[in-house]
Amino acid sequence: MLVDNHGRTIDYLRLAVTDRCNLRCAYCMPEHGALFANKDTLLSLEELKRISSLMVDMGISKIRITGGEPFVRKDIMSLLEHLSNLKGLDEISITTNATGIGPHIANLKRLGILNINVSLDAITPETFKKITKRDTFQKVYDNLVRLITEGFNSRINFVVLEDQNIEDIYALIELQKRYPIGVRFLEEMPFNGTDRNFNKLVWDYKHILEHIREKYPDFIKLEGPATSTSINYQIPGHKGTFGLIPSFSRTFCGSCNRIRITATGDVISCLYGKPKANIKQLLSEHDSDKVARAMIKDVLGKRAKTGFDAQQQDQLAFDRSMTAIGG
Ligand code: 5AD
Ligand code: SF4
Repeated sequence: MLVDNHGRTIDYLRLAVTDRCNLRCAYCMPEHGALFANKDTLLSLEELKRISSLMVDMGISKIRITGGEPFVRKDIMSLLEHLSNLKGLDEISITTNATGIGPHIANLKRLGILNINVSLDAITPETFKKITKRDTFQKVYDNLVRLITEGFNSRINFVVLEDQNIEDIYALIELQKRYPIGVRFLEEMPFNGTDRNFNKLVWDYKHILEHIREKYPDFIKLEGPATSTSINYQIPGHKGTFGLIPSFSRTFCGSCNRIRITATGDVISCLYGKPKANIKQLLSEHDSDKVARAMIKDVLGKRAKTGFDAQQQDQLAFDRSMTAIGG
């Protein structure tokens, strides 16, 4: 079992498989694209398999595959097949923009990988294009409906963006009225690959909830796992649920159970801190699981208590892009 220096059990790995993406969401990367890592600095399929096995052996029971966009990686299904055979790994989930998931839906089902989070910040093609700079709304929407009707446990991640998609909040509430899907509204975080000032967030989780309450005054708070980052609600009569993720307000750090590894092997113990080691480099220098295990333990033994502490300790310049961090 992995436990950090604040007594928190760490059993959840967020593993980024690529920093590439076919969309260009402004809150995630600059419009001309992020400075993508050199191909040879990305974790290879073999390294991804080795690292996931090692982490599961150390006590990780849940892995979420992130990116960039995981499905731009050609060998993604081979990694997922490997994960589905790992003893001790109870839950595999994927965060995707759902543009390219269509051809893989049958195989995901075969592997029993049913937890899919779809990043979708708009409900009209026009707004979608404004935010992502691409014209793929219909494809994403069709894939989303397929996931729902084929019985996947799918959720929508909707980043609330001032002056960009506020009108769509109510439309998403209507969507979860009709479909058994969880819609989660995320506070925007300062990881867009520019150093745009980010001192004040207008649409924080309280503001989002008040906005929803204006039109939907009756909702019930749902109990969730203690380690959940979302606060979830249900409106009576609606098939789905909605939730808020205070990703900028950081109200959930006390129960944090996660560690991140980026597509280049950086080990990140807090989203708001700097990488603490690089597992790709370490494995290439020592070719030893023992050394890698010691490094992971060391990193988790020196974790910041909260995202605010991490930010202060590391003096993080907010110039990194979410596509390089993995979300
Ligand atoms: N703020 C909040 N959420 C973000 N994501 C990407 N960049 C940001 C940001 N700057 C979200 C994506 C995806 C998840 C992995 O992270 O929408 O759902
Ligand atoms: Fe791609 Fe997701 Fe970043 Fe949008 S938020 S550019 S879909 S990685």
